[in-house]
Amino acid sequence: MSDAVLQSYLENQLERITTALESLTPSAETLPAQLHEAMRYSLLAGGKRIRPVLLLAACEAVGGENEAALPIACALEMIHTYSLVHDDLPAMDNDDYRRGRLTNHKVYGEATAVLAGDALLTEAFIHLSDPARTAAIPPQTLLEVIHIMARCAGSMGMVGGQVVDMEAEGKEIDFATLEYIHTHKTGALLLASVKAGGLVGGADAEQLESLTRYGEAAGLAFQIADDILNVTGDKEELGKAVGSDEARGKATYPALLGVAEAKRRAIELRDLAISALEPLGEAAQPLRDIAHYIVNRSC
Ligand code: IPE
Ligand code: IPE
Ligand code: MG
Ligand code: MG
Repeated sequence: MSDAVLQSYLENQLERITTALESLTPSAETLPAQLHEAMRYSLLAGGKRIRPVLLLAACEAVGGENEAALPIACALEMIHTYSLVHDDLPAMDNDDYRRGRLTNHKVYGEATAVLAGDALLTEAFIHLSDPARTAAIPPQTLLEVIHIMARCAGSMGMVGGQVVDMEAEGKEIDFATLEYIHTHKTGALLLASVKAGGLVGGADAEQLESLTRYGEAAGLAFQIADDILNVTGDKEELGKAVGSDEARGKATYPALLGVAEAKRRAIELRDLAISALEPLGEAAQPLRDIAHYIVNRSC
């Protein structure tokens, strides 16, 4: 795909996902109104939607019908958004801007932000288990998808990575710990995206193995790119602070290895991700292009 074709592919998927998120999330008039307004504030604030896009692309890569995957993709974006709302809290990264606007707690207060995050996480499981919307997915497959998502989001996945990220603040850590943080706090949900998409698309064991290797490498590359952008990126374009990782003494690839080596590592992982897709042929082209986008992006 050329850059322009990729751009229009991403925009098209983004629109589908945003429309679905809009209709799945309780309206801002539904009681309790302020909670629903706070949930919608962060969820519908934009964002790259990389996880749902990956999920749909993985489904497509194994020849699946990705309409059935749409509610699953939305659920993953809800889990991700909850993680951002909590990540920005004063007790964690204490950030004021996210997705180009004030962070949730800055607008609604900490208590509502905590609860909006809790509710987004729970809302995800409402959609994952909604018989009306998931009827096209075989029950055993759906159960496996739910299990993968819960595991990747929990203490042995994203939350586990967040805890070690917090513990590492201001400390000197070794490379293994840094890699643990990144593969868990961020890699886990990206891996869940491609695995879930593959499963919904009817992947066989070999296809799932390819997607897993792709997801692991792309997931780590994504967080390395996030670290690099915190050093070299533009606040307006990113819609969130820059320079904050260094200010908080965060464990990042640039801090441990320098920007040039971090970039080299991200490119190596991108190539590893792309090579894992070899058995999937032409149908996996969007996933290859997304791997390039992950390391080249400016936001
Ligand atoms: C930011 O995620 C936090 C990380 C896990 C790196 P994204 O870069 O996907 O943020 P949005 O969804 O586009 O706002
Ligand atoms: C965010 O990591 C990871 C999760 C929210 C799970 P960061 O704290 O590095 O991401 P940003 O830079 O705030 O988006
Ligand atoms: Mg953080
Ligand atoms: Mg943060």
